[in-house]
Amino acid sequence: MRNDSLNIARLRAEFPECPIDYYATIDSTMHAAARLPRGSVVLADEQTGGLGRHGHSWHSEPGNGIYCSLVLDPSPVLTLALGLATAEAIARSTGIACDLRWPNDVMLDNKKLAGILVQLVDENAIAGIGINVNQPSLPAELEAMSLRMHAGREFPREEILVALLRSVPAFLAEDTETILRLFTHASSYAAGRRVVVHQPEGVVEGITVGLNAAGFLIVRKDDGTDTLILAGGVRAAGS
Ligand code: BTN
Repeated sequence: MRNDSLNIARLRAEFPECPIDYYATIDSTMHAAARLPRGSVVLADEQTGGLGRHGHSWHSEPGNGIYCSLVLDPSPVLTLALGLATAEAIARSTGIACDLRWPNDVMLDNKKLAGILVQLVDENAIAGIGINVNQPSLPAELEAMSLRMHAGREFPREEILVALLRSVPAFLAEDTETILRLFTHASSYAAGRRVVVHQPEGVVEGITVGLNAAGFLIVRKDDGTDTLILAGGVRAAGS
């Protein structure tokens, strides 16, 4: 069932310097944000063609999720910083602590709660953040979780958005070394986790042994050799 529309007046009052475009329904906030100047934010209550990573779609039912795109300055470990910012915003606004699956899936109860898609358009990085908030259930094949499914109650999306629009610039202001340290601390996937990684060249299985200086994930295979994971596709072994 559809919830109320987002209270955009509340968000605009909280961030008077920030141009916030709002759509009741749109194909994807990524498309609208690609036409806007740096610093802009696009929000929607529903997406009819929500985009996920690796060509997947993003479940974007009306009224229950957060569908947000921000126009940002590209930076070296942007995707890791955005995952940290999203998890921090959720923790601050709801009290719920999430895990981070490299590079930036926000996980709750070992299922995906939020996803982040970064696209480079001209000089800008368009950062799309989708958070499952008040969905009473989600299609089983998505292996996804919402805050409501976890906690058994609904959450005001505006509170999470206020926290998110504060935490994103705060994490983007940190240097690469700090982001790597914070991510390693926040993510159970960064080190000591047995994972399976699906790559175009084949499947890699092993134990994670940390991030390199550029933020890529190092997986140590059972033969003792290390593989650098450059893109996503990481899953906990046996899941
Ligand atoms: C992923 O696959 O993990 C990334 C999902 C990103 C979804 C968000 S929702 C807001 C923005 N608009 C989109 O179409 N996608 C992103």
